[in-house]
This record gives sequence, structure tokens and C-alpha cells, in this order.
Amino acid sequence: MKLTNTLPLMLAALVVASGCSKSDSTSAPAPAAPAAQATPAPAAGARVVTIEANDAMKFNVVRIEAAAGEELKVVLKNMGTLPKEAMGHNWVLLNKGVDMMAFSTAAMAAKATDYIPPAMAAQVLAHTKMLGPKQTDEVTFKAPKEPGEYTYICSFPAHAMAGMRGVLVVK
Ligand code: CO
Repeated sequence: MKLTNTLPLMLAALVVASGCSKSDSTSAPAPAAPAAQATPAPAAGARVVTIEANDAMKFNVVRIEAAAGEELKVVLKNMGTLPKEAMGHNWVLLNKGVDMMAFSTAAMAAKATDYIPPAMAAQVLAHTKMLGPKQTDEVTFKAPKEPGEYTYICSFPAHAMAGMRGVLVVK
């Protein structure tokens, strides 16, 4: 019957054990919270779409169908091994009607902003960060309300032109 009392103490002990050995670490109860969340909960309601990117400049998912307003979580995984400077990948969902070529061309000069051109940022509905090899990022968003096709690309220089793109089809 003392289990409920000892569990927090055990967690606190784990936190202390894994933290630094300074004596003041024992007076910080706050770190116990992260230790209790060993299993992160998925975003409630969002449908997960996992997309792999590779050194061949391809997404393994080139078509996503969604209901209008549906909450989606796109998880982008860079499966490649080439360095980020030469073969970075992101996932950028463009608004309907955006000229993919124009966006990609502008993106080439936007290295400082992770290849999202500031002048066209308003045309981006959702995007991940630019990934190096074996990195993963995710973005949660709601599919547009207006049915139609929305292009997504990798905005690393020349990748969209080389075929690194796909389409979100909103029904
Ligand atoms: Co790419």
C-alpha cells in the first residue's frame, strides 16, 4: 500500500542518478516530470504520414489523399548518407496555384532561411526543417479546406526540379 508513495521517490532518485553529481541537484523536484513521460503520446487526432527521403532525390510517398481540414502529421525521415550541405532534404507544402519552379528557384538563394525564401513564405502551408543524413523531423497541420491538389517539394537546390516532389490531394 506504500507503492503510490514510493514511486515518486524512485523517479526522483532516477533523475538524480542520471543528472550531475552536484549536491544541489537533490533540491530540484521539477525534473521528475520528464522522467515520468517515458512514452511520448502521439498528437491526438492527427493522422501520421511517414515519408522517406533518400540520396536519389526522391520521396517514397508522392501522393497523399486527405479530407478537407483533416489534421495530418507528416514525419520526414532522411534515409540517405550524403552530407546535408550536398544532399539536404525537407518537406514543403505549397499553397494551391504556387508555381513550383518559381518557388524552387527562389529557394536556391535562401540558404540562410533553410531554403524557404522569405518573400514566398506566405505561400508555404507547412514545412519541416532541412534534414541531414539519418535525421527526422515532423510537422502537424490541417489539410486545406479547399479541395484540389497541393504540391509538396524538397526545396534544397534543384531537388524539386529533379523530381523530389509530390501532391497532397484534398477531397
Ligand atoms: Co532534397
